[in-house]
Amino acid sequence: MSEAAEPKTPRKLYLISYGCQMNDYDSAKMAEVLAASHGYERTQQPEEADLLLLNTCSIREKAQEKVFSELGRWREWKAAAPGRVIGVGGCVASQEGEALTARAPIVDIVFGPQTLHRLPELLDRTRQTQAPSIDISFPEIEKFDRLPEPKASGPSAYVSIMEGCSKYCTFCVVPYTRGAEVSRPLDDVLTECALLVAQGVRDITLLGQNVNAYRGKMGESRELCDLALLIRYLAQLPGLERIRFTTSHPAEFSDALIQAYADEPKLASFLHLPVQSGSDRILGMMKRGYTRAQFLDKIARVRAARPDLSLSSDFIVGFPTESDEDFVLTMNLIDEARFDCAFSFVYSPRPGTPAANLRDGVDADTKNRRLQMLQARIREYDDAFRAGLVGSRQRVLVEKAATRGGGQLAARLSNHRWVNFDAPESLIGQLVDVEITAAAANSLRGRLLTDRVCA
Ligand code: SAH
Ligand code: F3S
Repeated sequence: MSEAAEPKTPRKLYLISYGCQMNDYDSAKMAEVLAASHGYERTQQPEEADLLLLNTCSIREKAQEKVFSELGRWREWKAAAPGRVIGVGGCVASQEGEALTARAPIVDIVFGPQTLHRLPELLDRTRQTQAPSIDISFPEIEKFDRLPEPKASGPSAYVSIMEGCSKYCTFCVVPYTRGAEVSRPLDDVLTECALLVAQGVRDITLLGQNVNAYRGKMGESRELCDLALLIRYLAQLPGLERIRFTTSHPAEFSDALIQAYADEPKLASFLHLPVQSGSDRILGMMKRGYTRAQFLDKIARVRAARPDLSLSSDFIVGFPTESDEDFVLTMNLIDEARFDCAFSFVYSPRPGTPAANLRDGVDADTKNRRLQMLQARIREYDDAFRAGLVGSRQRVLVEKAATRGGGQLAARLSNHRWVNFDAPESLIGQLVDVEITAAAANSLRGRLLTDRVCA
């Protein structure tokens, strides 16, 4: 762009993001795409912005309604200055499509999770035509080819390795809003990781709805790379110290991946493996593709491979017809598997999913009571897990100054827990050894043992 054509002050973007890690990743990409194309900068002050983006999520809450009431709040903002544009992306946009602009005419752009890279064109088109621009198609992997080079924003980063999900669990809207599973080619993933490591990234989380369905093309070969092999390749990357992944599906949790926990020290001691329920009857109705016994067998084998593992999961309580007996089976499963971390949700029917046609026979009080019991049990295992770390020596990656300040730094253990300790800010981005001295309510406290370790 010539100097004369450049705007005097950068254009400002106000971005509201709901939902999961996948959405946070997509939001960061939206900002990067618009920075590269139009010089947009993100702002926390909406009055400075001429572009408002809402990245929506429809996995659980009555998200559509939330989006429409949120949009209602932006009517005055839009009217207050000419040329202001409102875009809605993410899963609600994908589900609603044109219905969104019909019901909320203040919306100018509607884009889906797979078309966020087309935002610059959609924005130009809407500005030129003064009419809404809508693109919620699923153009496979084109999105990744069109994203600007990744920019590190600290020593840890997310790298998306696949999109979509083809599992069709009966309660879940993701396969409809994000499309079928598509993997990025291996070389693209390795290049993105190498670029991030060159910028100081030491800890990478491989991201996807179902990362152990990853099957990346390997150059011109007809062979496909799975997640376990991808981890092996990444472990060779000098400078990259920790590899994480989320989320994986128990049915596809392979022996090769369990083996990686046994002999690949860069693979972090953390596993998020959503189980949803401990009752085979409910698992069958959810179409999860595994039984309680099969799940427990996999857990036992990962624990044998990696004894200090932190184990996390997702649970849904109150799935249609869930009885007290079914719920007790879920609670027993928590005791058997010893999950020390979990995301748990009350079931909510999602439009268009098979389970939405089932009679939702569990009343709201029962659902909430079950949720609280489940969360209390997980908290007990979390407390015990963290208490068990006190006195241990841990290698941690220093990520930032602690939120509480006071000269403390915040670092992450291999098992995903945060520890705060006194140390100079020059250590940010480094691996250091600490002794865990106390387990507080939400974080651990530690004492610096060695500053900087050669990894
Ligand atoms: N593989 C994805 C799953 C996305 S949904 C990921 O891990 O991000 C995330 C979690 O939301 C699911 O594991 C499930 O526990 C919960 N969930 C999905 N649909 C739901 C629904 N209709 N009601 C309640 N919880 C739901
Ligand atoms: Fe949803 Fe099941 Fe896929 S929970 S994201 S359909 S694995």
